[in-house]
Amino acid sequence: MKKIIICLFLISGLAGSRAMAQEFKEKYRPQFHFTPRANWMNDPNGMVYHNGIYHLFYQYYPDDKIWGPMHWGHATSRDMISWQEKPIALYPDSLGYIFSGSAVVDKNNTAGFGEGALVAIFTHHDPVQEKQKTGKHETQSIAYSLDDGNTWTKYKGNPVLKNPGISDFRDPKVRWFEAQKKWIMTLATKDRITFYSSPDLKSWTRESDFGANEGGHGGVWECPDLFPIKHEGKDIWVLIVNINPGGPNKGSAGQYFLGDFDGKTFTSNSKETKWLDYGTDNYAAVTFSNTGNRNILMGWMSNWQYANQVPTDPWRSANTIARELGLQTVGKEIYMTSVPVKELDILNTTGFSLKKMKVKNQLDLTDKAKNKTGLFRLDFDTKNTADFSIVLANEAGNELLVGYDKAKNQFYIDRSHSGKIDFEKGFGAKHIAPRFATAATIPLTLIADLASIELFADNGLTVMTDIFFPESPMSKLSIKSVTGITIDNLKYTILKPSAK
Ligand code: FRU
Repeated sequence: MKKIIICLFLISGLAGSRAMAQEFKEKYRPQFHFTPRANWMNDPNGMVYHNGIYHLFYQYYPDDKIWGPMHWGHATSRDMISWQEKPIALYPDSLGYIFSGSAVVDKNNTAGFGEGALVAIFTHHDPVQEKQKTGKHETQSIAYSLDDGNTWTKYKGNPVLKNPGISDFRDPKVRWFEAQKKWIMTLATKDRITFYSSPDLKSWTRESDFGANEGGHGGVWECPDLFPIKHEGKDIWVLIVNINPGGPNKGSAGQYFLGDFDGKTFTSNSKETKWLDYGTDNYAAVTFSNTGNRNILMGWMSNWQYANQVPTDPWRSANTIARELGLQTVGKEIYMTSVPVKELDILNTTGFSLKKMKVKNQLDLTDKAKNKTGLFRLDFDTKNTADFSIVLANEAGNELLVGYDKAKNQFYIDRSHSGKIDFEKGFGAKHIAPRFATAATIPLTLIADLASIELFADNGLTVMTDIFFPESPMSKLSIKSVTGITIDNLKYTILKPSAK
């Protein structure tokens, strides 16, 4: 009897995982980037590391593939690469939809919910008041979990921060400010950032405003983040401000400022507008909380220009690969760098390496790569002596180009002929990014999933993330250079799909 039960259990388990495997094989389905099984997703929310688990919450509409009344979806992971979707964490209520926000571990029980409670701080967006145009429809609220994020209780005293009359008043990112033993909330308030502080996550005091006259202002400011990174022995404070539209290649994008924060005021030392990512598909990117001295960023891999139209079914949107942040000085400026987290290596399978390889016109690597899936990581370096491009292609004739333009000293991704592009008129375009590094050698890392490419140039000084929708996997790979280049080192690794 026992044997039969075990057998049945195994068979049903197998059938279950088969059904799941089928489910994640739909056309255009990313194979190692997080996607919800079905329906609409946007911003990552409340990303927090707790008891050995990374939590990802996200803007989620469970009833349709287009944006609607927002919930917080939930997924967990041990490595930020393989994600398991969990039941919905937060549902809309009488105060409104659950918009973006953050989560913290309340180690000292400052809020009184319990020692080590997970506390989520989010925007309540009231659609009724929005229609009435009160200008006060967005407020900040909290919820807590005492069981590792499985179930959540909304605080009875919500909202904890009322709206003073600012129509865009949202996306609280909260962190503990140890030097003054208080919480700091970084809030997007239309065309600027407002900082608040609190002893207990429940009562908030306005500290200062930043940015009305700084940085990019081509759109509304959203989803900010504030954290220090150690650089040459001292803390540099990073203020991330997502903006929509107004990005460097149109639409949604993330800018950042570097400077100081004293618990009250942020002062920027940046002399130019800096972008986290020059591709079109890394929005609402913020960092995980409680990750010690690692700063790990993840964004929504889409753009409000076309997020509601991308041709995927039954889900919409994916997240970027998690990225580790750093700082690097170039000349008189400091820039933020981002590179894929080392955990991505768990997907490595077979591959090949080359050294001192001359490319004149075209080097076709398709036969060497033997990769039908189009999932790979390519690391290579070459000198900045001539134009070159890396071409991903398939049997259907779709092409995606990632390249370097020597005369302009720019990187680019061209998805004009990358497959399905007709769902939005601006989608099929070429995107460009400046090269900041001055070294003669250009190291490049490319992370290719079925429907996305992430370029990390110069060890993450220039980053580009673009999605695309090929008719079949990009199983062909070649490197082109009319003038000719020498690839000093090349390493190609086939990646496997992440476990779901
Ligand atoms: C950014 C954003 C946030 C808001 C959320 C709503 O993409 O507009 O400002 O909280 O999406 O879903």
